[in-house]
Amino acid sequence: MREFKNKVAVITGAGSGIGLAFAERCAYEGMKVVLTDIEEEALNRAEKIIRSLGADVLSVKCDVSKEKDVEFLTEKAFEIFGEVHLLFNNAGVAGGSLLWESTTEDWQWVMGVNLWGLINTTKTFVPKMLLQNKECHIVNTSSIAGLTSGPANGIYSMTKHAIVSFSETLYYELMLAHSLIGVSVLCPGFVRTRLMDSERNRPMELRNPNASMNITPHKQMMDHMLREGVSKGMPPEQVAEQVFQGIQGKQFYIFTHKEAKGTIKQRMEDILNENNPTFPFSI
Ligand SMILES: NC(=O)c1ccc[n+]([C@@H]2O[C@H](COP(=O)([O-])OP(=O)(O)OC[C@H]3O[C@@H](n4cnc5c(N)ncnc54)[C@H](O)[C@@H]3O)[C@@H](O)[C@H]2O)c1
Repeated sequence: MREFKNKVAVITGAGSGIGLAFAERCAYEGMKVVLTDIEEEALNRAEKIIRSLGADVLSVKCDVSKEKDVEFLTEKAFEIFGEVHLLFNNAGVAGGSLLWESTTEDWQWVMGVNLWGLINTTKTFVPKMLLQNKECHIVNTSSIAGLTSGPANGIYSMTKHAIVSFSETLYYELMLAHSLIGVSVLCPGFVRTRLMDSERNRPMELRNPNASMNITPHKQMMDHMLREGVSKGMPPEQVAEQVFQGIQGKQFYIFTHKEAKGTIKQRMEDILNENNPTFPFSI
């Protein structure tokens, strides 16, 4: 997709971080923007920001893990703007503990947002985008954690691995359908956002009853490391810049942190050489 002006973008998780940076970038490009998020206040703030940049905006409160919410979002987007050309599956949360200590609620919450969110939007938006028969693009946000593994971040990492495979499959299937829809999978390293405060948006029914008692020393260490990384991470605007270049260049894999490729390469070599996994960082 080369031309953005007057086209329509839909961004999930647009209230904060990378999603908000995507929305700002869409507005600068002269696009019409559909903002969606579970957090109403953040969504309202984002709407004001994007409107102040001169863009036509529709904002819809939506929990991407809920099929009905996503169906409503899709209906609204097509009702107001008629078409959708650029879809950012960006909403995501981080949560859970060591695999055997993570609760059913942890699994349901993180898989619900990160994985079912993508499944739901694919089911509702892609058939309509296919019917348009115009140049479109879909960006699915995975992570470096979607191509590597490490301790105490297993649910998140598993969903991000699934997003890579999902996106590769979507790419092949759209190609076989001779469609004009391009696909990218975004795999960032640390980005300065509110990801480590994801708990703020965890629905009541999926909260852990004894949350403070679930924190083991390994989980604490990992959380500390991730918090440090995110707080010193890349500005989200820089991610948006690279993603727009990637979309224009029809680039499938988008890595914002080239230095992380070493860890991915090590994992791939371990797999191909049938070696046991190399620990991804020093302990
Ligand atoms: N920040 C990083 O270091 C980093 C690295 C790799 C990948 N990512 C990915 O980037 C994406 C964006 O996250 P971010 O870092 O900007 O974090 P963020 O917390 O700043 O933004 C995430 C947004 O998603 C929204 N959200 C949460 N649950 C939702 C739901 N059920 N339905 C709709 N919206 C929901 C939040 O309200 C928030 O606005 C996520 O998929 C994340 O996994 C982030």
